[in-house]
Amino acid sequence: MRRRIIAGNWKMNKTPSEAVALINELKDLVVNDAVDVVYCVPAIDIPAAVEATKGTNVSIGAENMYYEESGAFTGEIAPAMLDDLGVKYVIIGHSERREYFAETDETVNKKVLKAFEHNITPIICCGESLTQREQGITLDWIRMQIKIAFQNVTADQAKKAVIAYEPIWAIGTGKTATADQAQEVCAGIRAVICEIYDAATADAIRIQYGGSMNAGNAAELLAKPDIDGGLIGGASLKPDFGKIVNA
Ligand code: PGA
Repeated sequence: MRRRIIAGNWKMNKTPSEAVALINELKDLVVNDAVDVVYCVPAIDIPAAVEATKGTNVSIGAENMYYEESGAFTGEIAPAMLDDLGVKYVIIGHSERREYFAETDETVNKKVLKAFEHNITPIICCGESLTQREQGITLDWIRMQIKIAFQNVTADQAKKAVIAYEPIWAIGTGKTATADQAQEVCAGIRAVICEIYDAATADAIRIQYGGSMNAGNAAELLAKPDIDGGLIGGASLKPDFGKIVNA
């Protein structure tokens, strides 16, 4: 049985003091021992968020990191810096990073390998555009993204990874994929993992759906056999997040 994982992606929202206020507001709403609950917060909020979630069921994640250990990379965050603060997860290759900050499948792969080196669990994002869906190439596209993201990743590492399937057309648009559409792609992703590794790895890896998931549609999406959780943007900043955790 795969343990469910509900992660909030706060994106570029909340100052450190606002982060603490939100964590305190959500504290009692997100209690659920059967689910891994993660807040991926802006890097500058991490120390305050780690402190504010001490003794709770919530883990803190980052929204990005660089793939080098240290050096002349002005403005970047090294994996050891995250590890030192107690960060357990990192979102890698979110479509906004790909679109606005020129991330590619190759940089995603480098970051995934680096995260594992530091025992930080990567939440690896993939997803098609509306044009790609209309062209009927969704599964081909995602298959390519997954195959490149997992280059040189061992089966033992892959078992611990989290994949977030986020159709780009559903992110922040209020337009959610239907539960059947999401299930189809998540099952396709699991099949690719089985093909790269084996059935045991495919069975262990956790796959989230993301894209306008909210308190109203979470239960139906999470009821699907290959959807093991959610990556939630907008609704993670509201009390609704507690309803998703408990859906
Ligand atoms: P959304 O964002 O829930 O606001 O659509 C999801 C994401 O980008 O991870």
